[in-house]
Amino acid sequence: MKKTQLAFIGAGNMARSLVGGLIADGWDAALISVSDPDEAQLAALRSRFPVHTETRNRELVESSEVVVLAVKPQVIREVARDLAEAVQTRRPLVISVAAGVRAADLQRWLGGNCALVRCMPNTPALVQSGATALFATETVSDSQKDVAESILRAVGLALWIESEDLMDAVTALSGSGPAYFLLVMEALQEAGEALGLSHKTAHLLSLQTAFGAAKMALESSEDVATLRQQVTSPGGTTERALAVLEDGGLRELFNQALTAARDRSRELAEQLGAA
Ligand SMILES: NC(=O)c1ccc[n+]([C@@H]2O[C@H](COP(=O)([O-])OP(=O)(O)OC[C@H]3O[C@@H](n4cnc5c(N)ncnc54)[C@H](OP(=O)(O)O)[C@@H]3O)[C@@H](O)[C@H]2O)c1
Repeated sequence: MKKTQLAFIGAGNMARSLVGGLIADGWDAALISVSDPDEAQLAALRSRFPVHTETRNRELVESSEVVVLAVKPQVIREVARDLAEAVQTRRPLVISVAAGVRAADLQRWLGGNCALVRCMPNTPALVQSGATALFATETVSDSQKDVAESILRAVGLALWIESEDLMDAVTALSGSGPAYFLLVMEALQEAGEALGLSHKTAHLLSLQTAFGAAKMALESSEDVATLRQQVTSPGGTTERALAVLEDGGLRELFNQALTAARDRSRELAEQLGAA
């Protein structure tokens, strides 16, 4: 699998993270090519990784078994249409990391009947701690699924979903999710400062507590509700605080927030897919 000729279209944040993760995972840099119209972006990438770069997208597609579309959703239609002829001739596995761009729209722009995997990574992928959902169209083989999964696993967790409709729920949970946790950390920091802690102390305690809670939960075989009960002593401080959060309707607020994000994700997909 690590012998696969791999092309990235777009040399921005996501491509840089994926290339870095893949090389750290043992992927041969000589098999990785990246194209971008901006020579400065390509030079920045070459200064970090010994990959081949190119300013012409089509050249790369013609020589690659796997093509990762890593451009912004706003330009992906134009990029895909430009690549359609080369994709139809070479028939690579195409992996899109573009948020909110549906597989059917991409298929249409690429000329149809492509082996296509649509992914929804999130921003912590930039620090190799992402959470990505993947959806494969019917023409993707099991070995191509393995390749797609191994590429996204280079920047964190990679999970398959069976129905593309669920991608809007994924967007609401893990796509937008880093901001929810950042808001909670911000609120904890402010509340700590209101209780007299210095800004720096409240900031560091808030971040390390979030990190520690996630690490504990990831390393445990218990579910999060059980873990929460285990750290909540009857009559203690945590129980008092959690009662305030539950009485304030925290769970219902998250229900409403994720539903709002899911609905917005659908609207954006409609807009991106128009034409
Ligand atoms: N960053 C994240 O955390 C994140 C999370 C989830 C999903 N994604 C998805 O990942 C994709 C890339 O995001 P990003 O953050 O990496 O964006 P980015 O940093 O802006 O990278 C996109 C790159 O594509 C280049 N580009 C523009 N037009 C092109 C063309 N015609 N051919 C080839 N390259 C072209 C851009 O060049 P210019 O700068 O010169 O325009 C830029 O270098 C997006 O679709 C986004 O939805 C990103």
